[in-house]
Amino acid sequence: MYTKPFLKWAGGKYRLLDKILRELPSGTRFVEPFAGSGAVYLNADFPQALICDFNSDLIELYKHIQREGEDFIQYCASFFTPENNTPTSYTELRDRLNASSGARERAALLLYVNRHAFNGLVRYNSRGGFNVPFGKYKKPYFPLEELRAFYRKTRSTSTEFMAMDFRSVFSSLKAGDVVYCDPPYMPLSQTASFTAYTGNSFQAQDQRDLAACARQAWENGIPVVLSNHDTEATRNLYSSAIIKQFTVQRFISCNGANRDVAPELMAVYG
Ligand SMILES: C[S@@+](CC[C@H](N)C(=O)[O-])C[C@H]1O[C@@H](n2cnc3c(N)ncnc32)[C@H](O)[C@@H]1O
Repeated sequence: MYTKPFLKWAGGKYRLLDKILRELPSGTRFVEPFAGSGAVYLNADFPQALICDFNSDLIELYKHIQREGEDFIQYCASFFTPENNTPTSYTELRDRLNASSGARERAALLLYVNRHAFNGLVRYNSRGGFNVPFGKYKKPYFPLEELRAFYRKTRSTSTEFMAMDFRSVFSSLKAGDVVYCDPPYMPLSQTASFTAYTGNSFQAQDQRDLAACARQAWENGIPVVLSNHDTEATRNLYSSAIIKQFTVQRFISCNGANRDVAPELMAVYG
């Protein structure tokens, strides 16, 4: 039994935890430069953690849970009302998220839109505005127990959350760190690209920089495990790592009727 993340997140690793955790050696500090919903952080067992993502609303959400616990969880719950589950209220609250400069309010609204938006998508336009349409759920789920479990994790593991680019995360590594990277994936084909998590898109140069950072970290004695699609391009990128290959069943449509099997790899430097 693993601890479930409280957010829905594209590319979430909950179902792959067995495979990922097995590859992580022990160490003092667990470092995740692409945290997303935090599925791996929640279930990895290290005394310390550095949890990062480019998405500053996401990191603020984590920081507020860590700092305020139940008070902040109840503030988040206050947005989950039947009155706020209409297209008009949704649009108003989404606009409020995009206009607000208050970190606490933005953090709570991110959780609101995550559970009320179409398919739980988190997607931003090029100006950084959250732009997913209303999801029409009968009664959006408020993840109370999952939020409490996240709070407990931030207390039992000495955790620092930071909003930053992965290159800065790699430059702050130290002896005893163990790194797991789950970047936006390389497209399986030229046309199949989905990388708009934060309004920026993750380009081929970013993939090359990440591979170089991982190699450099390993040369400095820091183990790094990375996930990605299994393609000729990723095999070339990670040619100096040990490659573990497997397939993942993906649910393409919202009713789960269309399934596809995508080859994935884990590159292990360590
Ligand atoms: C595939 S998701 C991670 C999913 C996560 N492992 C989970 O289980 O939910 C990729 C994450 O990378 C973040 N990201 C995109 N570009 C980034 C960058 N340049 N530096 C750091 N994080 C970035 C996105 O905001 C997104 O949360």
